[in-house]
Amino acid sequence: MDTRELSSPALKWAGDGTPCSGTFDDVYFIIGHGLAESRYVFLEGTGLPQAWQGRDRWTVAETGFGTGLNFLLTWQAWREDPQRCGHLSYCSVEGFPLRREDLRRALALFPELSPLVEELLRHWPAPVPGIHTLSFEGGRVRLLLLFGPVLPMLSGLMARVDSWFLDGFSPAKNPDMWSAAVLRRVAALSAPGARLASFTAVTQVRQDLQAAGFVTERRKGFRYKKHCLTAVLPQAPEPSGAPWLRLPPALAPGARIAVIGAGVAGCAAARALRRAGFDPVLVDRHGQEGREGSGNPCGLLKPRVTLDGGVHSRFYGASFRHMKRLLGDLGEAVAFFPGILTVAAEEQEEEHLRALAATLPEDIGYWVDGPEAGALTGLKGSRGGLWMPDAGAMHPPAVCSALRGEIPLIEADVTALTAEGSRWHLTGADLTVDAVVLAAGAVTPLLWPQADLPIRSNRGQITLIADSADLPGGALSFGGYLSPRAALPGQRVVGATYDRWGDPQRPGWDQPTAADDARNMEVAEDKVPLSTPWAERPVIASRSSLRATIADHMPMTGPLFDAARWRELYDGLHHGWPHSRYPAADWVPGLYVLGALGSRGFQTAALMAETLAALCSGSPLPLEEDLFAAVLPSRFVLKEMKQPPQRRARQKPSATEAR
Ligand SMILES: Cc1cc2nc3c(=O)[nH]c(=O)nc-3n(C[C@H](O)[C@H](O)[C@H](O)COP(=O)(O)OP(=O)(O)OC[C@H]3O[C@@H](n4cnc5c(N)ncnc54)[C@H](O)[C@@H]3O)c2cc1C
Ligand SMILES: C[S@@+](CC[C@H](N)C(=O)[O-])C[C@H]1O[C@@H](n2cnc3c(N)ncnc32)[C@H](O)[C@@H]1O
Repeated sequence: MDTRELSSPALKWAGDGTPCSGTFDDVYFIIGHGLAESRYVFLEGTGLPQAWQGRDRWTVAETGFGTGLNFLLTWQAWREDPQRCGHLSYCSVEGFPLRREDLRRALALFPELSPLVEELLRHWPAPVPGIHTLSFEGGRVRLLLLFGPVLPMLSGLMARVDSWFLDGFSPAKNPDMWSAAVLRRVAALSAPGARLASFTAVTQVRQDLQAAGFVTERRKGFRYKKHCLTAVLPQAPEPSGAPWLRLPPALAPGARIAVIGAGVAGCAAARALRRAGFDPVLVDRHGQEGREGSGNPCGLLKPRVTLDGGVHSRFYGASFRHMKRLLGDLGEAVAFFPGILTVAAEEQEEEHLRALAATLPEDIGYWVDGPEAGALTGLKGSRGGLWMPDAGAMHPPAVCSALRGEIPLIEADVTALTAEGSRWHLTGADLTVDAVVLAAGAVTPLLWPQADLPIRSNRGQITLIADSADLPGGALSFGGYLSPRAALPGQRVVGATYDRWGDPQRPGWDQPTAADDARNMEVAEDKVPLSTPWAERPVIASRSSLRATIADHMPMTGPLFDAARWRELYDGLHHGWPHSRYPAADWVPGLYVLGALGSRGFQTAALMAETLAALCSGSPLPLEEDLFAAVLPSRFVLKEMKQPPQRRARQKPSATEAR
């Protein structure tokens, strides 16, 4: 979990209500003509709204989100333009995010924007570093807030930008925002013909932009101001970054996409694809969503927190927050029962959880002593534990149904995929489509064995017991878990076993056993002993299914590939040559995967789906580049090829061995 909340900008308020950054000693806008100036400098300066007319997608990026005035004006211009682009993405870097109440106060100065302001405030994220993707207008307007220092955030951004708004405080007061390195990165992220605007036309900025490839022009400044700046990048920049991260071309707008699997992965993918302007169809052997791994009557949405603060923590923190935003959007269709206590059963666990709690932002979790844990959950006499107020329980099939909405679902068992020209035919379903997403849980690697995806099948069983007054009412996590009383009247879920299964087509994975119920009860007895032994509680029902797991505990999404071809392409990767010496990635056109969700599918599916839809549509990715590399399906082949050839044979994963 990345815990370092970003500093607030030490706001000061002028007598007329203008917000001023104490950190930079500069104002966010001039009261009275803030709107007119922003429209003149940035929208007119980049030729908007005309420039986006007739285009399916348009991407604006900004340095300095501040109060969001430029974003709100751009969104308003998009709304009011009958010839607007189909989808607008707006990426904005902010190193010192305003707290929600300050944002509300600053934007109250612009009553004409109030409906948009309310929407923005409703989604406004915690000031935690990373990309926060908010979506409006049914997904047609996306705001990617890049919270963090400008250069690292732009370096991590994966996007092709059409319009740039450079709006850091003045270069004299804030040189970091205008460094030559930042402006080179601006050029590298630009689409050919990208236009840029800024309120400042100082010589150094113009020269650095020219050195980065822009043709600059000084414009008359707003009202009494002498100059402002526009610029255009006439030529496509040289591709930069790792060639294996170079993405395939976007699919055509409206493309018909088959999503195989209607668990949480497939339903989230289909929803995100539809919102991105595609025509998805779900295909599942059950003819209904949420039947296998995603079919338990109650599951927990709980962030995976670790002490390392690295890629895992950042990814799981971001995906938890993204899923919570999505649940907020789904509204009452999905019941959510907040609050989970991770119980400290022993001294060592207490030490670990206390240390962990000390690193977490309060919205994620904090330590509670025994009496407080008792008041929150009804668990008496415990040492206490880690309380996660925003985590909670939900009904997995209901989440799948809400995600699916009206998206059609075909009942079919897909056995093979065959390329037919530029399209794909699904054997087993009478269907030919433009593109396919594999979201078939543990079966996924069998549907495209060419990729050697090292996904394993792992069987898990839950046990439903009758509720009773001596059971704590709240949700508990203790290695196993107990669902909260409120989630399922009269019943409590105790879970879950975790066993390697092997071939996902071997029968028996969905047959619960009494022995596994007993194991669930043993874990509960060991960690949360109560007056009535767990083994004596009547079992009402049991349910087992497969998880799709992977050794590095990260899910995967992205384009598919042929592993043999990649081994050829990147045979020399162990030499560690400069990126420019390696060839660009070679993807199988129109084939994608979203899977390996392991034990936390309900946490990660939404951000994975958002990433997939962005990839398919050529929109900015909601993950920073290092996080995207960590979920890239081809990462295992790359890891293998980084080894010297003599060490590869032993480590080479293969679809069959790995399972
Ligand atoms: C016991 C247990 C408890 C869990 N508890 C939690 C929890 O509390 N919180 C949490 O976040 N996660 C939990 N998980 C993990 C979570 O359930 C999974 O991560 C998630 O359900 C995976 O979703 P999925 O869509 O990838 O797979 P699935 O839900 O398994 O969906 C795959 C779908 O693909 C379909 N399919 C497969 N092959 C084909 C084919 N050839 N043709 C057509 N359709 C096909 C299947 O019918 C299925 O519907 C738990 C898992 C288990 C097993
Ligand atoms: C002039 S304000 C932006 C105004 C904004 N575009 C608006 O519409 O309200 C500049 C913003 O840049 C941010 N900023 C300054 N230096 C930064 C840096 N090095 N990295 C990231 N953000 C920075 C400031 O916190 C401030 O919010």
